[in-house]
Formats: sequence, structure tokens, C-alpha cells
Amino acid sequence: MPPAIEVQALAKSFGAQRVLAGVDLSIEAGESVVIIGRSGCGKSILLKHLIGLMSPDAGAVRIEGVDIARLNERALLEVRRKFGMLFQSAALFDSMTVAENVGFGLRREPGLSAAERARRVDEALALVDLRGTQGKKPAELSGGMRKRVGLARAIVYRPGIVLYDEPTTGLDPIVADSIDQLIVRVRDQLRVTSVVVTHDMRSVQRVGQRILLLHQGRIYTSGTPETIFNSTDPVVHRFVHGISDPKEIQI
Ligand SMILES: Nc1ncnc2c1ncn2[C@@H]1O[C@H](COP(=O)(O)OP(=O)(O)OP(=O)(O)O)[C@@H](O)[C@H]1O
Ligand SMILES: [Mg+2]
Repeated sequence: MPPAIEVQALAKSFGAQRVLAGVDLSIEAGESVVIIGRSGCGKSILLKHLIGLMSPDAGAVRIEGVDIARLNERALLEVRRKFGMLFQSAALFDSMTVAENVGFGLRREPGLSAAERARRVDEALALVDLRGTQGKKPAELSGGMRKRVGLARAIVYRPGIVLYDEPTTGLDPIVADSIDQLIVRVRDQLRVTSVVVTHDMRSVQRVGQRILLLHQGRIYTSGTPETIFNSTDPVVHRFVHGISDPKEIQI
């Protein structure tokens, strides 16, 4: 079986700014990988390439063996159906109820009966421990609950791959822990491949089977949480322990 995701020599620039300078990575089906790296180093840009929202200047992005950089828009839509994405802001529709927001994830399956749609929405909400909130509006929910609704919407159509862009940013440590537990639950119960971008070092340890550090446009290093946290490489060590480089401080 080909890897779920395979990226080769991926390059992307914006004008004179080179953001991705030859990213190589491979993620097996069912694996959960965490991508870390400095703010602005290109993590969100990399996720957008995986899901086909951006196309590379050079290099290949293969999803289950298919190079998506060479697909037309229609074929790309098919590939996107394999993905669920939890956006940083949760990106819910304020005017819709929780059930309508989650059900929006089912728009790609127009053939479903109303009863089947409701059942699938209930099932997704149960998985994120939000049973009974169907009729609420996003404004009535806390930030952590909104993230969970966003997660229910990302998984309601049973994607094989789920991408999470900073799922715990801005949440208190207890809620962040519960989101991490949900990510693990979704991975294990739905057997999805997970790619989590995060700055939260506790999340890294809780959800990552393998950690990739993006640095200067490339995957600088890859390893288990243990090897990354114990690394003596100065770039890795400073990043995971939050130590700034005195040469970079400008006040
Ligand atoms: N559409 C765009 N046009 C031009 N430049 C962009 C665009 N999107 C992102 N960039 C630039 O690319 C770089 C990488 O952005 P990206 O959003 O991937 O960073 P990031 O690693 O996700 O950072 P953070 O951790 O702060 O979310 C940034 O310098 C950003 O300004
Ligand atoms: Mg980002």
C-alpha cells in the first residue's frame, strides 16, 4: 500500500520569500504525526498543500499514491473528500445551530435521508462528547466546545485523513488535554491518519507517534517524542524547551 501522504522536494515561494525549500516527508496510513516549527516557518502552508488548497512551485504531493499537483479541479475535489480539517478558528457558521454546522460536513453526500443525516450528526457529536447540544448556536458555546463542534464537522463524513491546525491554541490546559484525548480517540476509533500542527509541547507528547520539525523550509529532523525532547541538537533543543537564541533577540 502506498503511504497515506508522501511529499517530495516540495517548494513554495511568495515573491522573493522562499517558504518551503524542498520538504520531504512520508506518513503511513493510520499514523499520527505532529508538525512543529517556529511561527511563520510554513506549517499552515504545508497543510494547505496536502489538501490541495495550494499548488507547489516544484515537487510532488501524493495522497494514497496519486500526485495531486497534477489534477484538475474536479479530481481534486474527490481527493479533498478523503480529508477532514479542523481549522484554528474552528470556522463555524454563527447563524447555524450545532447540528446544522456539523451536518454541513455532509453536504458532499446529498443522497442521505434526513433521518440518516441526523443519525450521522448525533454519532459525530457523541464522539466529541457533545451529545444534546444539537440546537445550540456557536455563540452559546465556549471556545473548547466550538473546537469540538469543528472536530465533529471534520469527521462526520468519515474521512481517512484528518488535519488539525493548532487545535489547542488558546484553550486552558484541561480543555487542551480533552481535545488531545479526542484526537487520539478519533485516530483509534475511526482509524484515521492524523497530522497535527501545534505549538503546544504537551500536545506533542500526547498525540504524536512521530514528530517532524520544520525549519528553514525543510524537515530538519524527525523522530519519536522521546528522541526529539532529548535531542542535543541546538535547533531542536531550543525549540522544544522554548529557549530563545541570544543572537536573535532584538529589543
Ligand atoms: N497567501 C500568502 N501570500 C503570501 N505570503 C504568505 C501567504 N500565506 C502565508 N504567507 C507567508 O508564508 C510564511 C509561512 O506562513 P504559515 O502561515 O505557513 O506559517 P506557520 O508556520 O503556520 O506560522 P504560525 O505558527 O504562526 O501559524 C509566512 O511568512 C507568511 O507571511
Ligand atoms: Mg499556522
